[in-house]
Amino acid sequence: MGTFLPRLKERLRIAVIYNGDKSAPGAVINETSNPRSSKSYRPIAEDIAGALSALGFRTVMVMPDDMMLGAHLREEAIHFAWINSAGVQGYGAASHAPSMLELFGIPYVGHDPLDAAILDNKHIFKRNLDSVGIPTAPFIVWDPTQDGRDYRTAGFWETAFPGCTGPYIVKPVTGRASQNVHFVGDAADLPPVMDKVYADTCNAVLVEQYLGGTEYTVGVAGRVIARGGDLIELDGPLVLSPCERVLQPDEKIFTSMDVRPITRDRARLLDPVANADIHGRLSALARRISVALHLRTLIRVDVRADAAGVLNVLEVNPKPDLKRPDATQTNLVSMGLDQIGLTYEELLLSLLVDRLYFCFAHRPQTVRHIAKLLD
Ligand SMILES: Nc1ncnc2c1ncn2[C@@H]1O[C@H](COP(=O)(O)OP(=O)(O)O)[C@@H](O)[C@H]1O
Ligand SMILES: [Mg+2]
Repeated sequence: MGTFLPRLKERLRIAVIYNGDKSAPGAVINETSNPRSSKSYRPIAEDIAGALSALGFRTVMVMPDDMMLGAHLREEAIHFAWINSAGVQGYGAASHAPSMLELFGIPYVGHDPLDAAILDNKHIFKRNLDSVGIPTAPFIVWDPTQDGRDYRTAGFWETAFPGCTGPYIVKPVTGRASQNVHFVGDAADLPPVMDKVYADTCNAVLVEQYLGGTEYTVGVAGRVIARGGDLIELDGPLVLSPCERVLQPDEKIFTSMDVRPITRDRARLLDPVANADIHGRLSALARRISVALHLRTLIRVDVRADAAGVLNVLEVNPKPDLKRPDATQTNLVSMGLDQIGLTYEELLLSLLVDRLYFCFAHRPQTVRHIAKLLD
């Protein structure tokens, strides 16, 4: 692949896809709602596109995830896409862009439709984690359209929380950046909060046991990396930036990045030597999730310890923030790039090359049009 890179940079036409605006003309037939709190992600798509251009890719453009995506991709003769969208509206929205790309025959950086939907539905992913023995907070899923008003009997309360007296976290099954996440101290106070989350999202509601320990986050990517001009195949997925999230004493829920941007004081990068134990446990956990659940590209695992120090997975983000780090802000998977000798551009090149490498090796039918560019 390395020998083909100069030709790919010259000829490969790349689209970085951000969340479309459902109110834009032609974006959708009928505007509905998005159970997940909406965000455009266009500035990040531009950071990604800018980095790919800086790496020497001649044709990189950004375009919206919406009903016109296929027409835009065809007009611009795009060969390869990068999904930086979580979907415009409707249910399972994170899977809409990859579903369309699968249909169109355009390979992409991003999770396939099934994984994207599962990862973006915390309750389903928790069950998958459970199936491979990875701890997550005890929980119930409450959907009033099915379960009626009595959350205690409907959601298998006693099975989920034997002997638990709270506190609890109430959150949407599909959400982002701590939006609509609530701390509830006492079970008696749960119903109005659950009603509110349901009213705000029109989707099932997750009630979890509150984990009071330290909070962490760790990224994990694919197995091929681009470092210092070389392409290297690792023997396992690349672990990125095991960090402790810095919470203020009264900050029970990590404050949304919409309210407080991710500055370097909001997470403490863990040192592989000085913090060897937790660094090793988080790295092993991240690798295990990626391998056991066959998640081939970038994810960011959000983790919190319980009172006994056991690491529980809160969620796994299928499209972690990739904002270009600058003097004040960063993103949680890029914080430790220095430790592993990668630049921001090299991280992005790694993600792109890893996906192409996988497609050429295991899905050759999806990259026949790219193989022709190399003739
Ligand atoms: N079970 C839990 N125990 C303690 N804190 C939680 C729990 N679930 C969520 N949180 C807090 O809420 C934040 C957001 O929850 P998370 O599940 O990561 O969803 P999202 O980031 O998609 O909003 C977490 O970073 C954490 O601070
Ligand atoms: Mg999170």
